[in-house]
Amino acid sequence: MQIRQMDFVREMVRLCEDAWTLGWHERNAGNLSYRLTWEESRCVLDAIASHGCEGDDWTDTGLVLPQLAGSLICVSGAGACFRNAGHCPELVFGIVQISSEGSSYRILWGLEDGRPTSEFPTHLLAHAARMDAERESCAEGCQSRVVYHAHCPDAITLSNILPPDSRVWTRALWQAMTEAVLFFPEGVGVLPWMVPGGCDIARASARVLGDFRSCIWTQHGLFATGCSFDDAFGLAHMIEKTAGIYLAGRAACGGAEPPYGVSDAQLRLICEESGVLPREGFLD
Ligand code: 13P
Ligand code: ZN
Repeated sequence: MQIRQMDFVREMVRLCEDAWTLGWHERNAGNLSYRLTWEESRCVLDAIASHGCEGDDWTDTGLVLPQLAGSLICVSGAGACFRNAGHCPELVFGIVQISSEGSSYRILWGLEDGRPTSEFPTHLLAHAARMDAERESCAEGCQSRVVYHAHCPDAITLSNILPPDSRVWTRALWQAMTEAVLFFPEGVGVLPWMVPGGCDIARASARVLGDFRSCIWTQHGLFATGCSFDDAFGLAHMIEKTAGIYLAGRAACGGAEPPYGVSDAQLRLICEESGVLPREGFLD
């Protein structure tokens, strides 16, 4: 099977097209990565071996991540436009292999225009952070495979209004819409403003993403992670939608806090009914 026909590539294309339609990916905004399963990796390596085009140029990532040693990761390219994902997946995405030390990568397929996203350090550290977090919390081990960065306009607008505080953000979003608490009971992580594109913001984001599945990049956008494309995209969508509802509510109240959001008592009731534990300390 051709790599561009494989399910995970088609899923990545679909996410890009959906998110493009929603207006989250102007020009080359945003990036996406997927950590392949061992079965998918084997299929990719077989397909590459049969064409004899395995690259041998290793590039240092500036990070040492033994969790990712030997992994194959499909990632969007630096400067790639999500709008073009369906038209030419080999330009927009590429599959890289992480070295056995977890410190460098080589391109196996795609990225015909260059190199992985400028936010590759954040993607790598986010994968590693979720693996570590889920190894501790999940009996089945880490299921997280998708890391997604989008320039969602309402989340960005909200970061111009709210302080960069996870509790404040989480409460605003939970109160905006009844079921938000069920989608992100652990809350929303928030990172104060930082220069994008390097290892510093990557390390700071990974600290947040060890604790939350999402991370707001203030005045920039958000990162959402998940076990599947539906999970990661759905989380980003839920954050963006609740941010929009909260903003509309505040605008309708002349800038004041909307008086009739979902109350703490109601949030506790929904959680009890659904067997979900809201993050400790986030409800009054
Ligand atoms: P890339 O084109 O390098 O992925 O950059 C887009 C972006 O959103 C940076 O934060
Ligand atoms: Zn960005």
